[in-house]
Amino acid sequence: MSRLLIVANRLPVSVRPVEGGVEVGRSLGGLATGLSRPHEQSGGLWIGWPGTEEELTPEQQSDLDRKLAELRLVAVPLTGDQVTRYYEGYSNGVLWPLFHYLLDQVPLQARDWDAYVEVNELFADAVAEQYRPGDLVWVHDYQLLLLPGLLRRRLPEARIGFFLHIPFPSEELFRTLPARKRLLEGMLGADLVGFHTPTYLRHFATALTDILGLTVDIDRVQLPGREVRLGVFPMGIDAAAFQGLAQDPAVEAEAAALRGDGSVRILVGVDRLDYTKGIPRRLLAYERMLETHPELREKVRLVQVAVPSRTGVGAYQDFRSLVDGLVGRINGVFGTPRWVPVHYIFRGLSAPDLVALYRAADVMLVTPLRDGMNLVAKEFVASRPDGDGVLVLSEFAGASWELPEALPVNPYDTDATAEIFFRALTMEPDERRARLGPLRQRVATFDVHSWVTSFLDQLERVSGPSVRVLSPTAGEGALREELTRALEQNDELLLLLDYDGTLVPFTATPELARPDAALVGLLRSLAARPDTEVHIVSGRSREALEQWVGSLPIWLHAEHGFWSRPPGQAEWTPAADIHGTWREPVLEILRDITARTPGTLIEVKAVAIAWHYRLADLETGARRANELRIHLNQLLSNQPVEILAGNRVLEIRPYGVHKGRIVPPMSAEREARTTILAIGDDRTDEDLFASLPPTAISARVGPGATRARFRLESTAAVRGVLQMVADTGVRADLA
Ligand code: UDP
Ligand code: G6P
Repeated sequence: MSRLLIVANRLPVSVRPVEGGVEVGRSLGGLATGLSRPHEQSGGLWIGWPGTEEELTPEQQSDLDRKLAELRLVAVPLTGDQVTRYYEGYSNGVLWPLFHYLLDQVPLQARDWDAYVEVNELFADAVAEQYRPGDLVWVHDYQLLLLPGLLRRRLPEARIGFFLHIPFPSEELFRTLPARKRLLEGMLGADLVGFHTPTYLRHFATALTDILGLTVDIDRVQLPGREVRLGVFPMGIDAAAFQGLAQDPAVEAEAAALRGDGSVRILVGVDRLDYTKGIPRRLLAYERMLETHPELREKVRLVQVAVPSRTGVGAYQDFRSLVDGLVGRINGVFGTPRWVPVHYIFRGLSAPDLVALYRAADVMLVTPLRDGMNLVAKEFVASRPDGDGVLVLSEFAGASWELPEALPVNPYDTDATAEIFFRALTMEPDERRARLGPLRQRVATFDVHSWVTSFLDQLERVSGPSVRVLSPTAGEGALREELTRALEQNDELLLLLDYDGTLVPFTATPELARPDAALVGLLRSLAARPDTEVHIVSGRSREALEQWVGSLPIWLHAEHGFWSRPPGQAEWTPAADIHGTWREPVLEILRDITARTPGTLIEVKAVAIAWHYRLADLETGARRANELRIHLNQLLSNQPVEILAGNRVLEIRPYGVHKGRIVPPMSAEREARTTILAIGDDRTDEDLFASLPPTAISARVGPGATRARFRLESTAAVRGVLQMVADTGVRADLA
């Protein structure tokens, strides 16, 4: 197993300077609590901010360094100004509210972008200093969105994963950010980008298409020379640890003390004091329940733990007074000398105290307005080995996707939420158990260890050396060397050449791609080379190929291998029946989209239809192509056709017909005496490369991940190599 470098804004400890040294405690929040155990067990490093901003004395600093080193933690110290502007200003003043759909909390003027860039660069320095080849680097969360990109530039070969712990918002909202492009490009520095739910992944994929003009293929994005994978990894908790703690006699005793004689039922809320957590609306719903069900007064109480958080951010300060006010109002209106309706705790609890509270709860209230996951919900479930207790869970928490047996609420609907609280309090024991059982099992199975393992396994898989072979760096020099060697050894030569983008550069319209005299001459001399077969394997129509190169003694394959024609013959043979019931509806859709999208055009071929968007504006073209692909996929789901994304072209064609089918079957002896050279530039040529025998020499023109073994920079380079081949033929002839 490779060494793991966890990189997160905050270290899993909090540091308090004291006389002559520092005190190190644990830090709270889902990310730190969730990843602490995996870090302890991994033997790797955790790189992050120790949470201090004041200057430490030399004594305090050396005490801190020693304590952190023991825990394998590496501090990235931040100045007071950086904390104000990077942490409070941009990360928690702009990104946090925006990603949680709370646009009204974003300041009118956000001026801290430069500090965000600066601190991400500081983190890149710190990681680069610790990095050793072979390490897995795992970057976490919204504070470090630029870091994967910065690291990729410095450490091109590094294996980098990125996980977002908060929601990725709808693209409509995300695009309001002025730095939207830089942020997306930063995340794409990773080999694997993970999210808690499929919805967040979908929003991210849409943003990539709409904002960067990229094509996303379900779970992967093609960039020049590399591929980025996207995945869904719902984070879990250390369920065994919570279960163990819940069975600890001291914790059980504390839970029993909290419950007392059981005459007052307990509702519990545990949150950082954050406006995303829905505490005011929860209090309002509780108040409403006391109004509509007066019989519950003095029979229930709400214990609300609110952990102070980000107290330097304005929105959090205002929020604190709002919650204080509501608690005061409810206690003032409903309280009696014997009863306080809301028991409010404004500080963090230790793990045993927290678990005692989970264990004592009749009803656990997890009602955020928006939450990436919410680990508290899972911790409650794991802390109930007694199999009892009711979880009320907001449909806007990522956890609701995995925990459907909880009682769902829409926290924006106060009346309905009040009724759900009542329903939870009055639920029969059988139903409580029936709901909690499956929740417990799921939380125990998909725990934090399985989360870490599945993310890192996939990161290893997608970034390992075997995958990197897909992006060869071997260039023209290496190709020429290998080709020369092969031509010297073998008598026969088989050339499989794509046309557009390979033999001729891209042109504005397909019609302009006719071959120039030099290309015709080159193809002619290749065809005249002894024991040489030349095949043009193109996406073009039969008519175009016939017109341009039909008079040459070479094989022609039109429409990605659908039609084939041997040299000098008039007849074209199709690879499959031509069934065209799908053509008219598809053409109708394409005509419509073409009319509305400047710079796009339809190419009608005998069996396939292509929609080119090469001349369209980059973003619009990619966005339309993506929409079109989704639409056609649905329309054609029962048809024997497939939709292929090429280089700024979509092609709809009969299923199973691709360039790979033209690679002629060869006996082992023929293969041994034949040099095979295949060259192409886009996705459709990958089918050809995939069908070649292992000894074949394949080359991709231009950027993009590929199966080919070599890469050529341009069509000019292709022609240079082919000229060399033609010349060796002449020399062999003369010899
Ligand atoms: N937590 C804690 N003590 C407290 C309150 C919360 O240790 O008094 C921990 C809790 O156990 C959980 C984390 O803080 O692991 C909160 O994570 P969650 O995902 O629910 O919310 P976040 O704070 O990450 O938004
Ligand atoms: C959430 C975020 C984490 C953050 C935690 C605590 O869980 O996703 O990145 O660490 O809240 O917030 P804080 O600002 O105190 O680190």
